[in-house]
Amino acid sequence: MVHLTHISDLGPAGVSNILERALQWKRKDPGPVYAGRILGMLFFNPSLRTRASFESAMLRSGGHAIVIDVNGGSWKLETADGVRMDGDRPEHIREAIPVLGGYVDALAVRCFAEGNPARDVLDELMLAIRDCSTVPVVSMESAREHPCQGLADMLTIREQLGSLRGRRLTLSWAPHVKPLPQAVPNSFLLSAAACGCNVTVVHPPGLELQPAVLQEAAELAGLSGAELHFSNDQKAACEEAEIVYVKSWGPGPDTDFSRLATQHADWMVDLPLLESGRIRSRLMHCLPVRRNVVISARALDSELSLVVPQAHNRLHVQRSLLHDVFLGGN
Ligand code: CP
Repeated sequence: MVHLTHISDLGPAGVSNILERALQWKRKDPGPVYAGRILGMLFFNPSLRTRASFESAMLRSGGHAIVIDVNGGSWKLETADGVRMDGDRPEHIREAIPVLGGYVDALAVRCFAEGNPARDVLDELMLAIRDCSTVPVVSMESAREHPCQGLADMLTIREQLGSLRGRRLTLSWAPHVKPLPQAVPNSFLLSAAACGCNVTVVHPPGLELQPAVLQEAAELAGLSGAELHFSNDQKAACEEAEIVYVKSWGPGPDTDFSRLATQHADWMVDLPLLESGRIRSRLMHCLPVRRNVVISARALDSELSLVVPQAHNRLHVQRSLLHDVFLGGN
């Protein structure tokens, strides 16, 4: 059974295969490759792109998707073990997940972080769901990673720059109104490391990504030839970047995020930053994005912005990765 919940389920070769198939299928529609297959989609958290792109991927491939929103129209699910279930959650994942496995061929799950990066990186809920599932599980973003986003990001860069190996990418922290999870920056770093890119992660001091993720990225870089750099100087880190990937993320619960975000409000990405180096950097963000908080409206509206084609590529990589899930690799 093939679970695709983390970049480590794929490794550099698996990532490369998914990207190649996505490119081929984007050029020439493969038709109803998943005819008769059903994907269950279980949402503990909201979504626009992930839900629509997975549903579209299944429908375009002759299959079907069943969407279950845990916070609306379904029973609330208890996820903790050993608790007395006398609150507002009448069903436990230990029954719900194997029950769904009798109805669908694979289960896609979205379960966001709790806001404590040191614990979120353990990805306890996604691993518990994997453990009790009788069908393959695909991540639609969990506490630790958002692998479909990372794959779509790599596909977008590959299309825009023509290759991935050695391309200069900068992942820049940006301010936000609240501390956000680290799943997207984690996935971007791990995917770029798997693809052999030259990545610089830049953020104010105190916003380092989790050591376990940095270690995994270093191991992937050892396999792929990627270069990883870390900096606290946003302007210098963006000067030579072909791509500036913007994302906000929060520190641990002991840090005052609003003070930190106010102190670093000038990290909002604007056109002069993208145009400051020898080359004009192209702009990426996973969306949704708060205009004039995270990225300026004029940068998002400029020709440098890739955010819409980047979101469109979610459909193409997910259609491709479902091949591994339903039909087993190449
Ligand atoms: N980027 C992303 O996952 O978007 P949604 O939260 O809208 O699915």
